[in-house]
Amino acid sequence: MTETVEITPGIHWIGVNDRTTDLFEGMWPISGEGVSYNSYLIKDEKTALIDLAKAIKGDDLLRRIHSLADPSAVDYIVLNHMEPDHTGVLKQFERIAPRATLVCTEKARELLKSFYGITERIRVVHDGETIPLGTHALTFYETPLVHWPETMMTWVTPGQVLFSCDGFGGFGALDGAIFDDEYESVEFYEREAERYFGNIVAKYARMVLRAIDKLAALPIRVVAPSHGLIWRKRPQRIIDLYKLWSGYAVDRPKPEITLLYATMYGATETMMNAVARGIAGAGVPLKVFDIAHTHISYILPALYAGRGVMVGAPTYEGQLLPIMSAALAVVDAKHITGRKAAYFGSYGWSGGGQAGFKKLVDPLQWEILDNLAFPGNPTAGTLEEGEAFGVKFAQAIKNSGKETSNG
Ligand SMILES: Cc1cc2nc3c(=O)[nH]c(=O)nc-3n(C[C@H](O)[C@H](O)[C@H](O)COP(=O)(O)O)c2cc1C
Ligand SMILES: [Fe+2]
Ligand SMILES: [Fe+2]
Repeated sequence: MTETVEITPGIHWIGVNDRTTDLFEGMWPISGEGVSYNSYLIKDEKTALIDLAKAIKGDDLLRRIHSLADPSAVDYIVLNHMEPDHTGVLKQFERIAPRATLVCTEKARELLKSFYGITERIRVVHDGETIPLGTHALTFYETPLVHWPETMMTWVTPGQVLFSCDGFGGFGALDGAIFDDEYESVEFYEREAERYFGNIVAKYARMVLRAIDKLAALPIRVVAPSHGLIWRKRPQRIIDLYKLWSGYAVDRPKPEITLLYATMYGATETMMNAVARGIAGAGVPLKVFDIAHTHISYILPALYAGRGVMVGAPTYEGQLLPIMSAALAVVDAKHITGRKAAYFGSYGWSGGGQAGFKKLVDPLQWEILDNLAFPGNPTAGTLEEGEAFGVKFAQAIKNSGKETSNG
């Protein structure tokens, strides 16, 4: 059995699957899905590695390299991105591949020092610069903020493979096969790419669009990201998806509604069902999430894609239920701005949830179209009100133009 896969002559996938890490970046759940760290080896007169792996995967990566080449003879290690999921093994590789020159952007040079104390054998490359390997040549394109300031992508000919690192990447370990055409359906990988995009990259959607524009003239035959599927049958597919998702995030969210709710004793949940009924009845696509049981990782794609956000949560200690505030803090960090919103929730005596909600979303320039705070459990009357509240909000989202924007 071989643990590596030749993509085109001389260009090998030497990636590793990670099925033991529960939280990617210490935050995003991947226990069920896993993730791959795709590294590549190009064998020519010179040997080059493209991106590495997380520190815990050093042995696996090294074994793959060994099967193809002598690691101590590696000439170049291209670092498209400095995040430790691709560079964690660098300290080990200083000993293992002592001749290798690290190829990276100027910004990455600073990070090499602060993360790994490495200051030597570095070659800084600039936009459009080429390094010949023999019959192959590498060309580098700076793609800043996809999703760190130092990021670049590497283009190799012949083969016409784009090593796009996190750009066009996705969660999901690879089940034996690594190419899009080796799966009967790529639905899982596309969904996980959208989640990865929403969790990791979408905040910089403008920079993604800029990168796509910059690379538009390349006759790409294979998109080889650092996470997830390698796209050789339909390389344009993943680029188009990233473009579509970036468009939603930047200024074209769809007329759809994401409903986030949380409840302690069910009062707000009872109302949620009435509100959802109203929205659904008005014919606007709706996704409902109980945020206490659904990690925000799975919710962010919907929040990026949709124009309307309905939030239901009760009052707690004079404020919005903290678990909802925590979810909205992630939305704030991800800078999902300019949405149209409404709030509903139960309170016992003083209230405070509604004001707490406003305080959290005002800085995001969310336009609060409506509120429905109610005492205790909803009555038949308040439930009717709730349904009408849902209808009204859905109609407003349906009729809202394209003026929303995510600055
Ligand atoms: C720990 C705790 C703190 C609460 N703090 C407040 C409060 O400060 N002001 C208020 O009006 N209601 C407060 N409430 C009452 C809830 O808002 C009320 O029970 C509401 O119906 C809960 O809605 P739910 O069933 O959707 O969880 C509190 C309830 C609990 C359990
Ligand atoms: Fe990254
Ligand atoms: Fe990554």
